[in-house]
Amino acid sequence: MDTVLSGIRSTGNLHLGNYFGAVTNFVKMQHENNCYFFIADYHSLTTHPNPDDLHGNVRKVLSEYLAAGIDPEVATIYVQSDVPEIPELYLLLNMNAYIGELERTTTFKEKIRKQPDNINAGLLTYAVLMAADILIHRANKVPVGKDQEQHLEMTRNFAKRFNNMYKTDFFPEPEAYNFGNKLVKIPGLDGSGKMGKSEGNAIYLVDEPKVIRKKVMRAVTDSGPSAPGEEMSEPVRNLFTIMEVVSTPDTLEFFKDKYNTAEIRYGDLKKQLAEDIINFTSPLREKILDIHENTDYLKKVARHGAEKARESASKTIQAVREIIGFRSF
Ligand code: TRP
Repeated sequence: MDTVLSGIRSTGNLHLGNYFGAVTNFVKMQHENNCYFFIADYHSLTTHPNPDDLHGNVRKVLSEYLAAGIDPEVATIYVQSDVPEIPELYLLLNMNAYIGELERTTTFKEKIRKQPDNINAGLLTYAVLMAADILIHRANKVPVGKDQEQHLEMTRNFAKRFNNMYKTDFFPEPEAYNFGNKLVKIPGLDGSGKMGKSEGNAIYLVDEPKVIRKKVMRAVTDSGPSAPGEEMSEPVRNLFTIMEVVSTPDTLEFFKDKYNTAEIRYGDLKKQLAEDIINFTSPLREKILDIHENTDYLKKVARHGAEKARESASKTIQAVREIIGFRSF
């Protein structure tokens, strides 16, 4: 069986993009692979959250993972900071990660632009920590989006470098992986690009109906087709893309026809889309809120996950220490 590993940084609630782009994918693959899904709370420290937010965000994402259907009896679900073997491997990998390659990382260069006042060493070595996350379980398949592919490539380089250096084949070279061939990319509501936390264009799974209505009604569109058969602009196409995952095929067809005959009223489209999103997210939202309040359950899941994750992680770290040459007296 393949070992699959993926994580989500705990920097806030999950949105429709995380749900359709990642979490539903995790849920499907959990039965056919040995899966590790974790909450990357160490990674969230690069933006200096306050103590309450740090834990609060872990709690949110854990509740959302569980509500979405990741089964703690099937997959291993854990919090990154519960596994001290990860930072140990991170330290060891850092010795073979070169400043030049780290500075060339696209995400690092982006951060320099976006947060010039906080370019900490954790940001520089972000990819090394991510490599440690993956290599600690010697995972060979990593479900990630396009924006993480460079980090995965760096992980392969670190793994190869370690193997070459110590003349071993201990670490596998992990590949990007998606269950099935269709991975939906959910666009945002602001007219271009994908749904993301930072852009303020997201619909969160826990958003209340009135919030969803407000966000959808404000979504960017255009001035409307002026003649039948006109090509759709990106903002309008984006609304249809969201409709594809939350609405019935009939509804989708109906509005597509209206567009193609140039009779569409975006207000109607948005009203329908908002209601369909609400219908889709409401049961999830209730589950999330229920689980979120169930401290005993969350504690049980986190402990069980940490135990399973540490079992695998400690085997790796022991072997790595042996390979590198640490010997106890
Ligand atoms: N960097 C990923 C993101 O921002 C999160 C992440 C951290 C991750 N460690 C990982 C993803 C290991 C896959 C494997 O989305």
